[in-house]
Amino acid sequence: MADDLWAGVDRLFGERLLGPDDALEQTLVASLEAGLPGIAVSPVQGKLLNLLARMVGARRILEVGTLGGYSALWLARALPPQGRLVTLELDPHHAEVARANLERAGVADRVEVVVGPAIESLRGLPGDQPFDVVFIDADKPGNPAYFAAALRLTRPGSVLVVDNVVRQGRIVTHPDDPAVVGVLELLDLVAAEPRVDATALQTVGTKGHDGLLVALVTA
Ligand code: SAH
Ligand code: DHB
Ligand code: MG
Repeated sequence: MADDLWAGVDRLFGERLLGPDDALEQTLVASLEAGLPGIAVSPVQGKLLNLLARMVGARRILEVGTLGGYSALWLARALPPQGRLVTLELDPHHAEVARANLERAGVADRVEVVVGPAIESLRGLPGDQPFDVVFIDADKPGNPAYFAAALRLTRPGSVLVVDNVVRQGRIVTHPDDPAVVGVLELLDLVAAEPRVDATALQTVGTKGHDGLLVALVTA
């Protein structure tokens, strides 16, 4: 019941603050038709990512976990014409669907979808062109490794966001779940890392009870 109410509030915010958007909606429809799981960020979360990127004037954005390109489209739209989004995806089929969606949405010129295990792709990215915003949303056991590798690709003032840090409260109730272990290790890593300052927020909405970690690179 609570979930229905949360979803209703998300829909209201979507209608009042976001409005209809063909490219975003087509991205979700095409992704579902291609058999991808329906686990993209919600519209209000996508808009939050878009606003965060614009607030910091992001010119280079890194995403870990592309799926069908829904969050990538929100992020790509935050970029200036010469900006760049690099998004990392393990599954070639997901990457192919994402590329088609981003092409249809008119942002393909700003986006590079890199196929392969994210940790290998991260190690292959040059450190001399830092990313202003990083969104980590791939396999959850990988969170600590992705955060550490991405941190090396940032500068003071960069912002890192990690999705799904609450998982219906399983972070408290199921500490041995491998996905939860990835989040708990991430929290330890962030707490011990003097170069970042962070918080995490629980969220409810169309995706149930979950949350986001937001970190600022300070040094
Ligand atoms: N950010 C997307 C959702 C990503 S879902 C959105 O909100 O629209 C998580 C994605 O991470 C899936 O597409 C999955 O294939 C990918 N993934 C899982 N393990 C990965 C890995 N080791 N490296 C890169 N991507 C991975
Ligand atoms: C799952 C993954 C996600 O990135 C998400 O936003 C929701 C659920 C999952 O693997 O279940
Ligand atoms: Mg997610």
